[in-house]
Amino acid sequence: MLYNTIFTATLLAVAMAQGPRACYQGSSGSAAPARDCASFINTFCDDASMGQTPVRIGDSTSRCFNLPGGDRCDFIALNTYTRAVSPDNNSCRTVLNDIAGRCPYGGFGQIADPAYTFTVDRNHGACSRNVQPGS
Ligand SMILES: *[C@@H]1O[C@H](CO)[C@@H](O)[C@H](O)[C@H]1NC(C)=O
Repeated sequence: MLYNTIFTATLLAVAMAQGPRACYQGSSGSAAPARDCASFINTFCDDASMGQTPVRIGDSTSRCFNLPGGDRCDFIALNTYTRAVSPDNNSCRTVLNDIAGRCPYGGFGQIADPAYTFTVDRNHGACSRNVQPGS
């Protein structure tokens, strides 16, 4: 009984330690797999975390990378934290590697709540001036 209680409490603590994450559902013809975007994660997170200009709460920093073959990878770090600071390098890598590894159409998530929300999304077409995530 005591063991069970401790075990349950541990599971709960582990579950709560991770912030909310979600995979995009995609539709027929949606660009996939987002796994191909994984090679850009380190570059995105390095750049985003070194940003000299603090990202205001509610603002975001984003980058787009072209994949060979005509698709692209859109990355976003949205400041859903409580302070105007740059995103954390390791949180960024952890969340994006998780999403790219298991969400065929990409998705978004947080290391904890509150914290930055990181998005990776594979889309059709080359990078242009605007990042367009969400499918
Ligand atoms: C981000 O973290 C990785 C691994 O912990 C490290 O190798 C890299 O230098 C870090 N990047 C920056 C900009 O600090």
